[in-house]
Amino acid sequence: MRPLTVAFAIAIIAITAFLFQAFIGSSSSQQLFIEEHDSLSVTPATLFTPEKVWMAPDTNTIPQDEHGKLILYGRTLMMHTSKYFGPYGTVSQSTNGLNCQNCHLDAATRPYGNNLAVTASTYPKFLPRAGKVLTIADKINECFLRSLNGTAIDTTGREMQAYVAYINWLGKDVKKGHVPAGTGGIKPPPFIYRAADPERGRLVYEQYCTRCHGPEGNGMLAVDVLKDATKQQGGTATAEDLYYYPPVWGNQSYNGVATLYRVSKLAGFVKNNMPYPVSYLNPVLTDEQAWDVAAYVNSRERPIKDFSNDYVTDLSKKPYDFPFAPYADSFPEAQHKFGPYIQMASAKKKGH
Ligand code: HEC
Ligand code: HEC
Repeated sequence: MRPLTVAFAIAIIAITAFLFQAFIGSSSSQQLFIEEHDSLSVTPATLFTPEKVWMAPDTNTIPQDEHGKLILYGRTLMMHTSKYFGPYGTVSQSTNGLNCQNCHLDAATRPYGNNLAVTASTYPKFLPRAGKVLTIADKINECFLRSLNGTAIDTTGREMQAYVAYINWLGKDVKKGHVPAGTGGIKPPPFIYRAADPERGRLVYEQYCTRCHGPEGNGMLAVDVLKDATKQQGGTATAEDLYYYPPVWGNQSYNGVATLYRVSKLAGFVKNNMPYPVSYLNPVLTDEQAWDVAAYVNSRERPIKDFSNDYVTDLSKKPYDFPFAPYADSFPEAQHKFGPYIQMASAKKKGH
């Protein structure tokens, strides 16, 4: 009898400890969630009600007229950009072959997936990086020049009109000044108390990213993946697209003046969206892993473009993780690139 009683007591203790752990664990992650994603006063009960997170308008409501056609063309360009502007593009051949939706997920509609919900209500907008007011079209061209490492497209052409029409439609129900949950740019994960570490990040990359983005970071072409079912592990690309899994570094990736080259932005994007198809509701990486893998990816080679005009009009607006000197403070360039950021005053301000 005695050993059985002991075993029973141990079992009870183990179960209690487990329940306690689960309770503490879940309440602290909810606490984090509140601080990170929604500064309004919410209670845990209301936290996950879907209405709180932005939802894109239904595409069935796109009008069936000439303007509706333009909106739909804009959506297509967002999804299958490489077909029109990639290395074999039908409109021009200037980009690295990425699609806009590789980074603006699900045609720029996904909550916490770098959607473009608030763009229509906030542009034209003064942007400190450019030091001037940019229209939506100007900002789209920033992504062409930086994220797609290409050249600006004609702002009077049908393609640009279509992009702008789609983005205006996407944000039509968002009131000026309101930033619904899950929208308004990429939020970094909470800061960690050390610098993000490329070497630890390499291990995270090998474990969670290599199978799709490849050991050399160059992704996989759609033609290769579409003819081999074992390589199809989740993605949105079709035969129209150049890449099935887009490159994350190297010649065909975003360049050194793209916003994802800032470690906080890449870490925030990856935390809520990678390994595909995780979402903000079920992240797989810890905050540390997200910072480290971002440091690893952004320590690899990628195209370089001239950044010397960024933030020149007001250096104090340069984001804390902008990886190129000069800075308004005295922290070294390496610390701006990988952290630790906690003691940087500039890290407390939101910057573009
Ligand atoms: C199951 C396959 C898969 C895995 C694993 C995966 N990704 Fe992705 N990743 C994708 C797909 C697909 C896209 C493009 C999404 C789209 O177009 O809808 C993407 C897009 C990206 C992008 C933006 C586009 C670009 O190429 O710059 C980054 C950055 C990225 N992934 C990083 C990562 C990191 C870091 C990991 C590991 C933590 C990871 N991914 C794991 C499939 C994957
Ligand atoms: C390699 C990733 C990547 C690709 C590809 C990309 N973008 Fe972006 N884009 C970003 C990031 C990162 C931001 C800045 C998000 C932030 O401020 O947190 C951004 C910002 C924007 C904004 C400004 C949003 C706002 O409200 O301020 C627009 C508009 C935009 N992109 C359009 C496009 C279009 C159109 C394409 C395709 C032609 C494209 N992007 C391709 C990463 C990308």
